[in-house]
Amino acid sequence: MGDYPKVEVNEGLVSIIVPDLSKYTVGSRPEPAHAPVFYNPRMEVNRSLSVAILNAYLSYMDKSGITVCEPLSGTGVRAIRYAREVHGVSRVVANDISERAYELAKLNVERNGLNDVVTVYRDDANNVLLRIAREGGCDFVDIDPFGSPQPFIENSLRAIKDRGLLCVTATDVGVLAGKYPLKCIRRYGALPRKFPFRLEVGIRILIYAIARYALAMDYGIKPLISFMDGHYYRVCVVVFKDRAYAIETLRSLGYAYYSPGTLSRGFIQGFPIPSASKFELSGPLWIDYPWDAEFVVNYMMREVRDYFSERARELASMLREESLAPNVPYTLTTEVSREVGREVSINEVINIIRGLGYTAYKTHFHPKGFRTDADLLRVRDVVKQLLRLK
Ligand SMILES: C[S@@+](CC[C@H](N)C(=O)[O-])C[C@H]1O[C@@H](n2cnc3c(N)ncnc32)[C@H](O)[C@@H]1O
Repeated sequence: MGDYPKVEVNEGLVSIIVPDLSKYTVGSRPEPAHAPVFYNPRMEVNRSLSVAILNAYLSYMDKSGITVCEPLSGTGVRAIRYAREVHGVSRVVANDISERAYELAKLNVERNGLNDVVTVYRDDANNVLLRIAREGGCDFVDIDPFGSPQPFIENSLRAIKDRGLLCVTATDVGVLAGKYPLKCIRRYGALPRKFPFRLEVGIRILIYAIARYALAMDYGIKPLISFMDGHYYRVCVVVFKDRAYAIETLRSLGYAYYSPGTLSRGFIQGFPIPSASKFELSGPLWIDYPWDAEFVVNYMMREVRDYFSERARELASMLREESLAPNVPYTLTTEVSREVGREVSINEVINIIRGLGYTAYKTHFHPKGFRTDADLLRVRDVVKQLLRLK
């Protein structure tokens, strides 16, 4: 196995060997992408929540004895955690194109005594997915690439069985959320806009991108959970290999609109061509709920473990709260507190809105963001009046 500095780390319930990141830095900051095999300790949040999501999916769908495919495995940590921490996994296919990653993942599987459950391959991810599809499919595909998951979505949908789970990570948040609109159009076939809720536009374009491939194959999708954590989006959807469900999915596609003058925002149905609108539009994108509140509240939360990092547990609680909010794009406190002359805190704004008899929930997408069914111009007036009286 390649000769480079390595260390042992504990994550979740497993112990693995990874490159010694203190030797791969930019300035004084560890840079996982510079190491011979990729391991980002910050992605523990993504991996831990994915363990909870897969455990929850198994009870939600009443399944066991499932096959998992993780075709971009790096050190194998994620595949190994699924094998060790998810109850009801019989087989895990791990894979990486890199020789060093393949060697390290094999070592890590062996060290954790999981040779009977996890098989490691060295191949291109798309080859592995197509092979799995030919061999009858798997129940769960996890796509965790560098950057965009786009090159792997189509074959993931082929590899997944009916009612299987597909989770994808996207680290190209900048592209999806409007920093490079033309790149987003090329990569995802959708126009992002720099609306105040652009981080939500981005994740909805990502769900749309999965739906688009699914629809072409006469499949439908249903998001169980979607979230953002710092530099990446994570989306998990159930895939229904059923034409009736594809027709249903089509109804969940459309555009987001926003009007700076009235602060109004929302979604309009229509794909690929929306009805005429007086607003600026962004999309096509997913306009239905990006999560299933029942799944998040009654299934996922039960699977969040004490041994997950504090950040993973905190994010899960935020998602639990937010999944109960109305399906309206979030608003920023700065939008309703303009002209007040001082920064109004998110808690103040939420209390004001609730005092008016409307619902308001914080969003995990932005520290100043909240979701509400209230008329935002009225909220802005009330915020102004109340704060002037103070
Ligand atoms: C972000 S890392 C994976 C991290 C890992 N899933 C985890 O949770 O730690 C992406 C991995 O994909 C591998 N990779 C890139 N292109 C690939 C391809 N076409 N087929 C298979 N593996 C690929 C890289 O070598 C790298 O190890």
